[in-house]
Amino acid sequence: MEPNQMLSGKVVIVTGAAGAIGKAIAMHLAMDGARVAVADLRVDGAESVANDIRAAGGDAWATSVDVTRDDGPSTMVDAVVGHFGRLDAMIANAGILTINPILDMPVAEWDRTFSVNTRGVFLCFQAAARHLVKQDQGGRLIATASIAAKIGSPYQAHYQSSKSAILGLVRSAAWEFGPHGITVNCFCPGNVDTPMWELIDRERGGRMGKAPGELFKEVASRSPLGRTQVPGDIPPLVSFLVSDGSRAITGQSINVDNGVVMF
Ligand SMILES: NC(=O)c1ccc[n+]([C@@H]2O[C@H](COP(=O)([O-])OP(=O)(O)OC[C@H]3O[C@@H](n4cnc5c(N)ncnc54)[C@H](O)[C@@H]3O)[C@@H](O)[C@H]2O)c1
Repeated sequence: MEPNQMLSGKVVIVTGAAGAIGKAIAMHLAMDGARVAVADLRVDGAESVANDIRAAGGDAWATSVDVTRDDGPSTMVDAVVGHFGRLDAMIANAGILTINPILDMPVAEWDRTFSVNTRGVFLCFQAAARHLVKQDQGGRLIATASIAAKIGSPYQAHYQSSKSAILGLVRSAAWEFGPHGITVNCFCPGNVDTPMWELIDRERGGRMGKAPGELFKEVASRSPLGRTQVPGDIPPLVSFLVSDGSRAITGQSINVDNGVVMF
């Protein structure tokens, strides 16, 4: 596929880009013409995605990051600006999920979930915004939330809470960065056919007495579209949010979930 011009010249960081959804986003942004920093804790995975992008004719550079480290995201932003010369958008996508009932949950598991899913997004937004404000040409801060931010699920109180908090961060950051021409949004994938959902199906489904595959099939059938969601469903929205065409959209949490959640 030849890159088109929609995001030509823009430099975008994608965290968690070695994972299922992050990889799909990074590939798509690059095919839309962005120069993509492929960032992940798993540097081999990031290198592999960057190689795939270059093999497809795109521009990508791999970098390691631990979004839970105080200086992780700022060091990453410095390295990306050093490599590409500028920054236009941050896609804070890294996230983790475990399954555990509240009654059994060690506080360390709660803290670890927030450290990656919420604090990690805050640190990525802060590091990117410090550069974008200095650069003074606007920009985009985008996070991967989840429909888990809007609905409850058993054994996922820590995950749901960590994703809900992203919506609060996005709404407040939109006010702080709007005067700089920087928009702040998040998107909410639904039940995407990925290793993360395999874990939910196995562990949550198992606790609910369901056979392997049963829970995933059930949630997929509960949507108006009745289709299975795949990682490739997510990136077109992200490309649009990065593009100049999304300039009037800020402070939003946009569902991309087959219509499972309608608010
Ligand atoms: N899979 C789904 O159905 C689904 C639905 C809604 C939202 N989400 C969200 O989408 C995002 C991506 O999910 P996915 O399914 O691709 O998961 P995944 O596990 O395939 O990918 C997550 C990536 O994040 C990286 N990561 C974990 N901790 C990190 C850290 N401290 N620093 C840097 N990178 C780290 C992992 O190495 C991994 O490559 C997550 O935020 C997830 O919560 C997923």
